[in-house]
Amino acid sequence: MSQPKRVVRVVEKFDLLKLVQDGIDEIDIDDSFFVTDVGDVIKKFILWKELFPRIDPDYAIKSNNLSFVANTLAALGTGFDCASHGEMKQVLGMGVDPDKIVFAQTVKPVHNIKMAKDKNVSKMTFDNEYELLKVKEHYPNADLLLRLAFLPKSSNKIQFGAKFGCSLETGKYLLKKASELNVNVRGVAFHIGLGCEDDGIYTKAIEDSAEIFRIGTALGHKMDFLDIGGGFPGHETESVKEVAKTINTAIDMHFSAPNIKIVSEPGQFFATHCMTLIVNVHSKAIKLNEEGEEVPNYYITDGIYQSFSMKGSGGKNPTPLTIKTLRDTSKMSLKKSVIWGRTCDPNDQVESEILLPELKCGDWLVLENFGSYRITTSSSFNGFLQHPSFNYIERDVWETFKDMKLPNIDIDYDVIEN
Ligand SMILES: Cc1ncc(COP(=O)(O)O)c(C=O)c1O
Repeated sequence: MSQPKRVVRVVEKFDLLKLVQDGIDEIDIDDSFFVTDVGDVIKKFILWKELFPRIDPDYAIKSNNLSFVANTLAALGTGFDCASHGEMKQVLGMGVDPDKIVFAQTVKPVHNIKMAKDKNVSKMTFDNEYELLKVKEHYPNADLLLRLAFLPKSSNKIQFGAKFGCSLETGKYLLKKASELNVNVRGVAFHIGLGCEDDGIYTKAIEDSAEIFRIGTALGHKMDFLDIGGGFPGHETESVKEVAKTINTAIDMHFSAPNIKIVSEPGQFFATHCMTLIVNVHSKAIKLNEEGEEVPNYYITDGIYQSFSMKGSGGKNPTPLTIKTLRDTSKMSLKKSVIWGRTCDPNDQVESEILLPELKCGDWLVLENFGSYRITTSSSFNGFLQHPSFNYIERDVWETFKDMKLPNIDIDYDVIEN
């Protein structure tokens, strides 16, 4: 199979369906592939700077670690949120300054802490006393960020509070404990959850962070770093524009001092929209449902062990599943259908009830907004390999990028201009 890996082609216009058809023509087997718009990542960076002038993005590389996203962002000068030894290794390998990395994992194996010390990645989050003792023993000069937990009111979010972060009260206790141990707490981190919206939670989180700053400073901690986490959707930016106003207002009110560095850890915001997944309907069967109705069942070249794993693990798809069939479906009637993944696991079901036109074996489905938490969560279960990607950048975006790009960062892909 041709694997156009690490090649980005310059196009005048990113015409998705045309480029999907080109990919189908170019790929020599009927298996899944991605079409990536590298320019979308660059446009998102420019938008971020407009929306959040005071907040530097530290890209959450867990959402997508391909060079088209990660190295592009590094070349634009973003920092990084790393949550493991492997992520730190990748980011440092791109030439990113260790000072631009937050080790954003509150609970860390000792060998990860030692690696951070060896490589001078000093900023790391914590939320409990045991972690404080561990850091005191293995990296006493680390710059700790106290992670606070907040529970958003809306239930459609993946909530982090049960696993990570502590309450304001526990936070105050940990600040005291850290000063007794002579370990510096440099600031506060929080993450509201996947899928931000303005329900007052950001204002509360920034207010509580300011309270921690006041108490920490009084205890002698040198506090100058606020990390407002991720959770900003990438497939539609209207809600981000709304929530940006709230966040900027709260920051102006509570963190106006210019010496305070403010960062965020967006993942989806940069990675979701740039990649489109194309899957093949390799098989089909008509089955009777419980009501005795005939339901088309389709089997696709993907599934919950690959690009649909967020759903498989009980999480919610962070982006809407939009399916185009590359045929004019406007006059076709829609039928309740089932979509199965391709592994032997009977739980590998992608959709239990979805309205689709009648498909045939060999049809292609196009799923937009498949860039985040797809590749990094995908496994090789049943021997399936990572999908190849056809990558493009619009000429004017490429020209803009060339002007903005930092010289010391290797983008790790070749750009073909004609
Ligand atoms: C600590 C932390 N920061 C940032 C992110 C990125 O979140 P998102 O992709 O919603 O922006 C995550 C996601 O799991 C996370 O756990």
